[in-house]
Amino acid sequence: MRIAIVGTGYVGLTTGACFANLGNDVICVDNNESKIEKLLNGNMPFYEPGLDELVKLNVKEKRLSFSTDIKEAVAQCEVIFICVNTPPKENGEADLSFVETVSESIANNMNEYRLIVEKSTVPVETGVWVQKTIEANLNGRVEFDVASNPEFLREGSAIHDFMNPDRVVIGVESERAEKILKELYKPLSAHIVVTDIRSAEIIKHASNSFLASKISFINVISRICAQVGADVTQVAEGIGLDRRIGKDFLKPGIGFGGFCFPKDLSAFVRIGEKLGVNMDMLRAVGDVNEAQKLYFKKMIEDHLWNLKNKTVGVLGISFKADTDDIRFAPAIDLIEMLIEEGVTIQAFDPQAMDNARTVLKDIVYATDPYEAAKDAEALVIMTDWSEFKQIDLLKIKSLMKRPLIFDGRNIYSPEKMKELGFQYLSIGRKPVNVEALKTKY
Ligand code: UDX
Repeated sequence: MRIAIVGTGYVGLTTGACFANLGNDVICVDNNESKIEKLLNGNMPFYEPGLDELVKLNVKEKRLSFSTDIKEAVAQCEVIFICVNTPPKENGEADLSFVETVSESIANNMNEYRLIVEKSTVPVETGVWVQKTIEANLNGRVEFDVASNPEFLREGSAIHDFMNPDRVVIGVESERAEKILKELYKPLSAHIVVTDIRSAEIIKHASNSFLASKISFINVISRICAQVGADVTQVAEGIGLDRRIGKDFLKPGIGFGGFCFPKDLSAFVRIGEKLGVNMDMLRAVGDVNEAQKLYFKKMIEDHLWNLKNKTVGVLGISFKADTDDIRFAPAIDLIEMLIEEGVTIQAFDPQAMDNARTVLKDIVYATDPYEAAKDAEALVIMTDWSEFKQIDLLKIKSLMKRPLIFDGRNIYSPEKMKELGFQYLSIGRKPVNVEALKTKY
């Protein structure tokens, strides 16, 4: 099938490359000329494991191309996926202006039937607006359908998640649209959930809000565990084995980040409130997430005493491992809070250093974890990169002014840290070689 993907961000580029890899002819369109230029030169606009190879392979096989010309893409492709970004506005609502602009452009360039598919995460009833916008610009010239096909791609495992979906959700309101999307997803032989458009739009926000709720839930439990010296990892295992709960997304940490959970949660809260629904429950998920960062910062303060002029090493800036994305990253907030207190930060991240430099101007960028630890009063783990789990901790200890580690992602085992002689504090687990201070929250 010939497919147009409008928007070459995390969702659009991955979706385009994967559809091409399934044998479709895909044109990825973006109005950002420099981004398309980079892609035409074989350079990826962001880090996503395996994407570079997948794009290059499909470009070589002539199944994947890039263009700034939406007219050509609409003229050639029967299915058009809207994958433009829907950033949060000041009040938390999603900014849908890019969706509207693209809908107009599609309508203005349509000369025969087209299926326009919302893949960007959009508030429920956006499909109605896309329909109206296209109708208003088409004046009945040609037939079309709108559909919703939300993505469930996690950064760092987006290709895997596309090729191995738990389910494919298609929100349609015509047999023709349903048939086309079922045909398109057939090679994945995945469970296809067919709904109306509004239900499909809600599924995405509800899914992300639920996953975010699980994380805030375990982070609340981690604080109870910390106060009584219990072990949140054991609690998470004990509850996660109940198949109704499930073990995933029960890892305590410094809170969730990224351009999805924080944004989708606040958008969903606004959607509910505008519909007159009390959204306190989901508001609390966001509040817990903010509080978790403050809780971790206080833990550092409680054990370092005065922060001013102290040097602290930071490992990890991206919002999670296997991505260079720092959007809404808890590490950014925490580093800014520590700088506020007069701390000198020396940080290392395997992938996110360039992105971090655009935001964090007055920190020292280390070339590796050891340089970040050198002469530091403490070392703080803020992202769970697997490479941090393999570092030579005895070498780290020899480099630090004081063998004190705050592990915001519980990547190390307390037993091991005890053996190595570290003072070690983590989330929801007993401190090692240091007396537990009752951080009240
Ligand atoms: C998420 C959804 O998982 C995905 O389905 C949706 O399409 C987009 O949003 P993503 O934001 O890429 O994906 O990352 P995810 O792996 O979900 O993690 C989100 C945040 O939660 C990260 O900051 C991560 O560190 C944190 N997290 C995740 C935890 O703190 N604990 C966990 O157990 C899992």
